[in-house]
Amino acid sequence: MRWTPRSWRNFPIKQQPTYDDKALLEEVEKRLSHFPPLIFAGEARKLKNKLAAAGRGEAFLLQGGDCAESFSDFNADTIKNLFKVMLQMNMVLMYSTGKPVVKVGRIAGQFAKPRSSDFEEIDGVKLPSYRGDIINSIEFTKEARVPNPYNMIRAYNQSAATLNLLRAFSRGGLADLNKVHRWNLEFIKDNPLGKKYDELSHKIDASMKFMAACGLTSDIMPQLHQTTLYTSHEALLLNYEEPMTRMDSETGEWFDCSAHMLWIGDRTRDLDGAHIEFFRGIQNPIGCKVGPSMQEDELIELIRALNPKNEEGRLNLIVRMGASKISEYYPPLLKRVKESGLNVVWTIDPMHGNVEKSSTGFKTRNFENILSEVEQFFTIHKEFGTVPAGIHLEMTGNDVTECTGSASCAIDDEGLASRYHTQCDPRLNASQALELAFMISDTIKEN
Ligand code: PEP
Ligand code: CO
Repeated sequence: MRWTPRSWRNFPIKQQPTYDDKALLEEVEKRLSHFPPLIFAGEARKLKNKLAAAGRGEAFLLQGGDCAESFSDFNADTIKNLFKVMLQMNMVLMYSTGKPVVKVGRIAGQFAKPRSSDFEEIDGVKLPSYRGDIINSIEFTKEARVPNPYNMIRAYNQSAATLNLLRAFSRGGLADLNKVHRWNLEFIKDNPLGKKYDELSHKIDASMKFMAACGLTSDIMPQLHQTTLYTSHEALLLNYEEPMTRMDSETGEWFDCSAHMLWIGDRTRDLDGAHIEFFRGIQNPIGCKVGPSMQEDELIELIRALNPKNEEGRLNLIVRMGASKISEYYPPLLKRVKESGLNVVWTIDPMHGNVEKSSTGFKTRNFENILSEVEQFFTIHKEFGTVPAGIHLEMTGNDVTECTGSASCAIDDEGLASRYHTQCDPRLNASQALELAFMISDTIKEN
């Protein structure tokens, strides 16, 4: 069947808002379709090649950022802190694996959220659920929960400003390998983890000095003072993604130019649904979440639909089973895909299968469960002789208290209240994220 950027409209769709003002919706879609693309096709192709390398075990994918970005908490520090902690994790992983790390942020467009229920009830008052700032607002009032098409313009503008700063950080000197010390964030500098990172940065300094003595300095080797942080988000709201989808003038191929990489959530991956239809036609590297309800035959069909040419680096399957389920549900899927000879890039999202409620009433995740799911993922791949290509995390560079546990900050149920800032799901803070990177690097070394 012929694909167009709007052919998804002929298919059943889940997790979408109902806009009352259809004329305003159309006007906004039209305006978006004239806005400049946020990324260009050549960048998405480059990322595809890098993901192909990760799929072969020649690189490692580090994907992370907020569960949901927000309009109100939009500032340079938050962006800079995430950038820094991703650079730190990059260093830790690169140093232990000796392989390049492909950095992809859940940023500059991660605004739309699938919800487990269409309604939220507090003290007997029932209102439509919050679906992310690109759709409605988080305040618990009737007005705030009305979907507003204009939010798509705000999301576009915020994404453009965020990406602009990320590009400046990447090229403007902050990523210089002579400055690895400076990435250590204030609030972790003095804890044991900050010190551990500091030791690593001394080793890197020594290597840099050695290279400089050989004449290999950052002014002649841009790789030493520049980096690339790609952007990604769940392409849930297709009214936004469609107008951002543009034809590449060189090849005639379609790219969703709202981000380098887009993924399909676990709740919207129905084979006959609108999201699969939209994704099959865009040529970006794409992801799809794989939760415990995924069936073997379904997965094979899904891979064939999304990657008909069996391209390497095209399709990232993001496994999110939960620490208590992964050992049962994942191996049969991995086995089938391996036997079928289909090219996929397997990564682990140890966040979404490990949500729990704290005794103090917060939606949280425990660090031990997160770590356990990651370790099991690596073990399973070792058994099958396949490549665990990366991780996908909900994390922030800020000093929040949203996930419990970890040696470096030991947040307990009571401690969650202190700085619980997330717009949606609980994120690892910078210290927990860095600790996880050290632990993953140990696991990789062992394997
Ligand atoms: C997410 O990544 O924020 C998310 C909602 O994930 P999933 O689709 O795996 O539930
Ligand atoms: Co989430």
